[in-house]
Amino acid sequence: MSRTPIIAGNWKLNMNPKETVEFVNAVKDQLPDPSKVESVICAPAVDLDALLKAAEGSNLHVGAENCYWENSGAFTGETSPAVLKEMGVQYVIIGHSERRDYFHETDEDINKKAKAIFANGLTPILCCGESLEIREAGKEKEWVVSQIKADLEGLTSEQVSKLVIAYEPIWAIGTGKTASSDQAEEMCKTIRETVKDLYNEETAENVRIQYGGSVKPANIKELMAKPNIDGGLVGGASLVPDSYLALVNYQ
Ligand code: G3P
Repeated sequence: MSRTPIIAGNWKLNMNPKETVEFVNAVKDQLPDPSKVESVICAPAVDLDALLKAAEGSNLHVGAENCYWENSGAFTGETSPAVLKEMGVQYVIIGHSERRDYFHETDEDINKKAKAIFANGLTPILCCGESLEIREAGKEKEWVVSQIKADLEGLTSEQVSKLVIAYEPIWAIGTGKTASSDQAEEMCKTIRETVKDLYNEETAENVRIQYGGSVKPANIKELMAKPNIDGGLVGGASLVPDSYLALVNYQ
């Protein structure tokens, strides 16, 4: 198995271009070799130009937090995957629970975005995860499996081999309440088995699966020791250079 671990910050609606440059300057010389751990920052669209310029020549890879499924047209306020590619962006987060809940994005929308992102030569970081209510009802696996099935509909095994999936239980996001490493591993394993059922063993072995939800320097090592967890998608703890560096340098 040769999956490269991937630790990605999701800045959400935080940081301006000036703060972005300050952050990159503070971290760029201390990032791990990307063949050992891939370091990514996913930033608001308005910060991407500054982020890309500041990160040039470093080991920092850049992602967007969202995009649309069309490349151009009358879609006020949207971001084009083709333009993200032109700029030099590599990853795009899709299906984050905040987008599903606050902006009413459906699995169908997320599936269209995944296809457009691949068609433009970018890589989606596809988020999935259950609410506390669903977990308390014991239906979390069923829920996440159905999200994965709908979100991957029509994608090829070659595409899914390159995909990053982030399992983010909603009850653990920004709450300080991390899923236990066993709970995170159990769901990441279920996701890998689902990919195997939908595609094949090789695709399941290739897809990288992150855990997200209150990941911090204190728990990253334990999470990354699990066989089906290949990385973290990190909100709050990715905003501070020292803590981001501790996360990407967890080895
Ligand atoms: O996408 C990352 C995320 O939602 C987790 O946020 O602040 O709990 O690390 P946080």
